[in-house]
Amino acid sequence: YSAPKTIVVIFGATGDLANRKLYPSIYNLYRKGNLTENFAVIGVARRSLDVQEFRQNVRNSVSDSIKESRNDIEEFSNHFYYHPFNVNDSASYKELKLLADQLDSTYNTEGNRIFYLAMAPEFFGTIAENLKSEGLTSTNGYSRLVIEKPFGHNLPSAQQLNEQIRHAFTEDQIYRIDHYLGKEMVQNIEVIRFANAIFEPLWNNRYISNIQITSSEVLGVEDRGGYYEKSGALRDMVQNHMLQMVALLAMEPPIKLNTDEIRSEKIKVLRALRPLEESEVHTNFIRGQYGSGTMNGQQIPGYREEQNVDPKSNTETFVAGKLMIDNFRWAGVPFYIRTGKRMKKKSTKIIVQFKDIPMDLYFNKDRERQNPNLLIINIQPDEGITLHLNAKRPGQNTKTTPIKLDYCVNCIEDGINTPEAYEKLIFDCMMGDATNFTHWDEVALSWSFVDTISKVWENEIATEYPNYPAGSLGPEASDSLLKKDGFHWWPIT
Ligand code: BG6
Repeated sequence: YSAPKTIVVIFGATGDLANRKLYPSIYNLYRKGNLTENFAVIGVARRSLDVQEFRQNVRNSVSDSIKESRNDIEEFSNHFYYHPFNVNDSASYKELKLLADQLDSTYNTEGNRIFYLAMAPEFFGTIAENLKSEGLTSTNGYSRLVIEKPFGHNLPSAQQLNEQIRHAFTEDQIYRIDHYLGKEMVQNIEVIRFANAIFEPLWNNRYISNIQITSSEVLGVEDRGGYYEKSGALRDMVQNHMLQMVALLAMEPPIKLNTDEIRSEKIKVLRALRPLEESEVHTNFIRGQYGSGTMNGQQIPGYREEQNVDPKSNTETFVAGKLMIDNFRWAGVPFYIRTGKRMKKKSTKIIVQFKDIPMDLYFNKDRERQNPNLLIINIQPDEGITLHLNAKRPGQNTKTTPIKLDYCVNCIEDGINTPEAYEKLIFDCMMGDATNFTHWDEVALSWSFVDTISKVWENEIATEYPNYPAGSLGPEASDSLLKKDGFHWWPIT
């Protein structure tokens, strides 16, 4: 590939995301030689900083993240510039344009620009419109808009935001971030499915009994209470990350590995998601909120005691749900999802449970039926796949024992972590590859699915809250959801 030449303008340059993820990711691209010297970053934020202070921030954020001293950080930070900014003032955009034009010629970036919105969503629309009206997008190169979540709060607000940004950018210039799509093992879902002869023939309702997707977190809401109170786990995790994983697991093989083909297969899955009637919400989705508990010997406060959280909050910090996909491949196969904060373990896992063999000739050691075959895709923190099979127990008998075939992505690379999701996504955007970003149709379909659930939940006070202690696996109702179908959650530990 030819190394990207570009100016990246980061709005929200003093924020948490920029410091924790974006600067370290851009540095990693630089260190690996994926960026040549033809790039510059303009940090934009309200605070008045001079360029030296800003570069120092960037150096600190990189050093904190790589935890080793490297002598190219200084040189790297010299590519960074700062523009203090007022979002509603057109003069601010004019000054930004002057700076960008000047850096274009200094770094020979050929008019290529990426505008990265890593800030409060209420400004996304205004910024996009001003970028166009003030001429920042009129260059000889490309202009791309990278947009962080949340993309709206429900379907109508997402539609409104989309219309606003579409005044200034076309769909193929818009890169909506879902950072799960940048994770190594999420990207591996397609490869496991479509590069192996042994899975795809079984990947349907004849052989799969159910699929379980868990994304559990140990952390609570931290200092994001203000945001989270209005969001909750359904909007924060299900509308985007969880439904994206469902789409990748359930989609048909694309006819080619390009952006349009992959996206159109994912969109078909979301179109086939069986919509819930309001009266069906309670039987298919359950919610939870953590109360106080003990984690690693430490007493942890409940959600309602967290900063910026209403002491009577009705916000869910846990969701479990059952999804059905109404198409030929998946009719009758439940996809169970669950996600929550302050759970026992940080883990994202997909477990594909295959149907039982038609007749059991062997007994396992407990004289029960054979364990079902499971294919486990470990997304994080371990990255890899595990296949659960049954084999003969050694010795003079006809008993079986479960065995595991394990492949660990981290392990073969000498323990070096695979690239951070953000690193891959930023690079993809520089290369103009939007495959791992969400198309508007995906956003719209997922909002319309979750909106029914939030509507029902918002209109009912959850008298049962808090209903799971910090450090647990969520409320009991989450187990009952599978139990009534004759299944159970497979352990995530
Ligand atoms: C973000 C949510 O999108 O994903 C956070 O806003 C959540 O609340 C995070 O903690 C989880 O991401 P990861 O990569 O740690 O699983």
